[in-house]
Amino acid sequence: MKIIILNGSPKGKLSITLQYVNFIKKKFPEHTYKIHHISERINRIAHNDNLFQEIMDDIGSADAVIWSFPIYVLLIPSQLKRFIELVFEKRAKKYFRNKYTVSLSTSLRFYDHTAHNYLHGICDDLNMRYWTDYSADMQDLMDETQREKLLVFAEEFFHAVASRLPTTKVYDPVVTRRFTYKAGDVKEKVDNNGRRILILTDLEKEKSNLGRMIDQFKNSFTDGVEIANINDIEIKGGCIGCVQCGLDNKCIYMGKDGFIDFCEETYFTADAVVFAPEIKDRYFSWKWKQFLDRNFYRGHTPGLKGKQTAYILSGPLKQLENLRQIIQAKSEMGYTNLVDIVTDESENDKAIDRTLYNAARRMMWCDERQYVKPPSFLYVGGHKIFRDLVWSRRAIFQADYKYYRKHKMFDFPQKDKKAAAFNKQMMSLMKDPKMKEEIRKMMKTQAVRPHMEVVAKE
Ligand SMILES: Cc1cc2nc3c(=O)[nH]c(=O)nc-3n(C[C@H](O)[C@H](O)[C@H](O)COP(=O)(O)O)c2cc1C
Repeated sequence: MKIIILNGSPKGKLSITLQYVNFIKKKFPEHTYKIHHISERINRIAHNDNLFQEIMDDIGSADAVIWSFPIYVLLIPSQLKRFIELVFEKRAKKYFRNKYTVSLSTSLRFYDHTAHNYLHGICDDLNMRYWTDYSADMQDLMDETQREKLLVFAEEFFHAVASRLPTTKVYDPVVTRRFTYKAGDVKEKVDNNGRRILILTDLEKEKSNLGRMIDQFKNSFTDGVEIANINDIEIKGGCIGCVQCGLDNKCIYMGKDGFIDFCEETYFTADAVVFAPEIKDRYFSWKWKQFLDRNFYRGHTPGLKGKQTAYILSGPLKQLENLRQIIQAKSEMGYTNLVDIVTDESENDKAIDRTLYNAARRMMWCDERQYVKPPSFLYVGGHKIFRDLVWSRRAIFQADYKYYRKHKMFDFPQKDKKAAAFNKQMMSLMKDPKMKEEIRKMMKTQAVRPHMEVVAKE
């Protein structure tokens, strides 16, 4: 069988994920494999039609396609996202039709599922036969049991391709509707109290629903609203994954383009930030993703901690539950308060005006109270992954380590002295079977007792 590998790591041959593919290649030598280093060569692929066509022809004549990629900021790297956009723009969907495919990633398994969900949706849009995903921890290959697991995954996939086993489509096509939003007058303005509100966008056409929603939101305030379009920032390229920034937050692009100056002078210094990205396929644009990936120079330290944020979107968010989760997770992991996500999906001018105004009002109301909503599992789970990573790889993530120590973020349960004392006492008491029975009966009332005491006291 002819297998095409689309390598989505900007590190090309030095990709960790690609070593998992190389391992499969070595163990299944009966197949032929061809690797395209998509992310590493994305600029050439975008500007050289012959090269793009060569990749399409390879895919068209292949029996199966393996998407091999690292997880970057809850998704695939911006370079691979750009390749996907090119496939749709250049009307090259037909080459992917009915091809068996799997997605294989390495990461710390921090939001690996949102990346795989995204790619699965894209494969369904391309009418591919999506077999399954394989999300490996970046260190798995060093473990014999994990290597065996990887081979079972590959063996089953190759069997499915050879036997033309059935696959199921999971994602419905995204339906976009035509609706032109007409903004009404803003009767009463929200006082921004001298606060600097930044609207960050990658708007392409000002005369669009998104453009008009941004204007309407801006007009809801007395003053103080700035609009920054990331297309106006000089960004030389996407994150190349070198992770040199882990040591001291210094990016290899420093002094070479305008990205970091923009972040330090305009973005992180704003008092509140409204994100207004264009929706492209099942996510935002590759340029938006590039902006987020490049933010990795800050490692795992938040740049907008404690600030109010909101999203203004034009497009079918209701059909993109995965994207909604990514938005929420990004906000929670950034310690920001996500006031609202305003869309034009109601297709009702007045309702959109009202929600935009309401978002502006709530933003200032929450800002005055310094309110940040308590996080959900999206933060709590994510924090534990980051905490353990920063601790265990502190030689690499030195900048993060300093930040985590300073902000007391190494909240390991082993350090909870009260819990340790409680456990010790209870374990010893419960050695007595009679006592154990007594405690069993008291569990419900004892669990709620301290909460009731607080309510009684306040
Ligand atoms: C810019 C950037 C963003 C990342 N974002 C994530 C992430 O969201 N979740 C995660 O688990 N790992 C994340 N990682 C870690 C990579 O996924 C991991 O190191 C991967 O194994 C690299 O694979 P590669 O060598 O094939 O590129 C990120 C790394 C970089 C450089």
